[in-house]
Amino acid sequence: MSVLNGKKILLGISGGIAAYKTASLVRLFIKAGAHVQVIMTPASKDFITPLTLSTLSKNPVHSSFFNEDDVNQKWNNHVELALWADLMVIAPATANTMSKMVNGNCDNLLIAAYLSAKCPVYFAPAMDLDMYQHHSTVASFKALHHFGNSIIPAENGELASGLSGEGRMAEPENIVAFLEADLESKLPLKGKKILITAGPTYESIDPVRFIGNHSSGKMGFDIAKCAANLGATVILISGPTNFSIENNLVKLIRVISAQEMYDACHHYFDNVDVAIAAAAVADYKPTNIAVQKIKKTATNFVIELEKTKDILASLGEIKKNQFLIGFALETENEIENAKLKIQKKNLDLIVLNSLQDEGAGFGKPTNKVTFIDKNFKVEPMELKSKEAVADDILNKIVAHYA
Ligand code: CTP
Repeated sequence: MSVLNGKKILLGISGGIAAYKTASLVRLFIKAGAHVQVIMTPASKDFITPLTLSTLSKNPVHSSFFNEDDVNQKWNNHVELALWADLMVIAPATANTMSKMVNGNCDNLLIAAYLSAKCPVYFAPAMDLDMYQHHSTVASFKALHHFGNSIIPAENGELASGLSGEGRMAEPENIVAFLEADLESKLPLKGKKILITAGPTYESIDPVRFIGNHSSGKMGFDIAKCAANLGATVILISGPTNFSIENNLVKLIRVISAQEMYDACHHYFDNVDVAIAAAAVADYKPTNIAVQKIKKTATNFVIELEKTKDILASLGEIKKNQFLIGFALETENEIENAKLKIQKKNLDLIVLNSLQDEGAGFGKPTNKVTFIDKNFKVEPMELKSKEAVADDILNKIVAHYA
């Protein structure tokens, strides 16, 4: 999945012949899963129509401070547009537009939006080779770089003037590749490996029956998705669930029993930076598994159970530098019990769920958790979606490595 997926991109188009290529650029952004809004300078409309871009971006295109088609002449709020964006891309960026942006010469909507933007801004310059090398242009690049903006280098080749050289706007595919590589390199968990357990475990009684629980696995899968979005490589070890995950950064290993989950966790634990135990592992399993289906002959039937291995505690025993996070599901003396679990399992952080909290627990889309760290700092959180809880957990990890 592209790192641009779900990102809000504000595309600023200034008046150069390369503007015609922005139709493909918008298409590639949309294909990558981004949301796109377009601002055009008045001059750029000579090279490509707003209709083309609004059709491709599925959004109205803005180019002046008020909406010309609107009888009420509603103001186009440049601040709102700029703050909406996760990233802003100026393509093509002409010498004129860059120079005006450097000097705060705010005579059109695009420059006003640029001056209001707080997000990363990328410039894809396009001009003739001599203009590209002129001291004035080089000075603009330096100033924009100094402002914290990024320049996507122009390419070498045939130019609209008939000359050949450096100055062609980077091809749309190359702009997308540049953005993806840049954003990926800045992800806060880039290079980190995270092991996550998820879902229930099933402990066989006979070939057709098992002991299990109601865990859906959603919490663990949400954590995995969120970790991958932050650039981490994830090993997701899950008991039986209906969830699946399509992400190059996530290796999903499906297991059934607590012993299989234990074995898989120990296989990977040495090489990970973080482990998060979100699985609802069975605490007991039948001592003997019947080879044949058990017949319904006895009036009363007793199954002898024995303890499963505590996976999280076993990881706590052998951990070196790993940041170890456990969950605790409690119904009484929640904080005290959770603190005991931190000590007993040698954890860095515990995520406490209380079944007394409405909206928390198995099979629900929401969760209400309290974080307790190894120094017993207690941090109760609001009731949130499980995705938002996953974000909070990942923020703790990001803060740990900051
Ligand atoms: N856990 C585990 N292996 C087990 C049991 C639990 O890895 N065999 C992990 C869970 O994934 C969770 C944490 O331990 O992160 C706490 O689980 P919880 O059920 O709250 O506690 P238990 O340790 O099982 O203790 P109890 O049921 O007595 O409260």
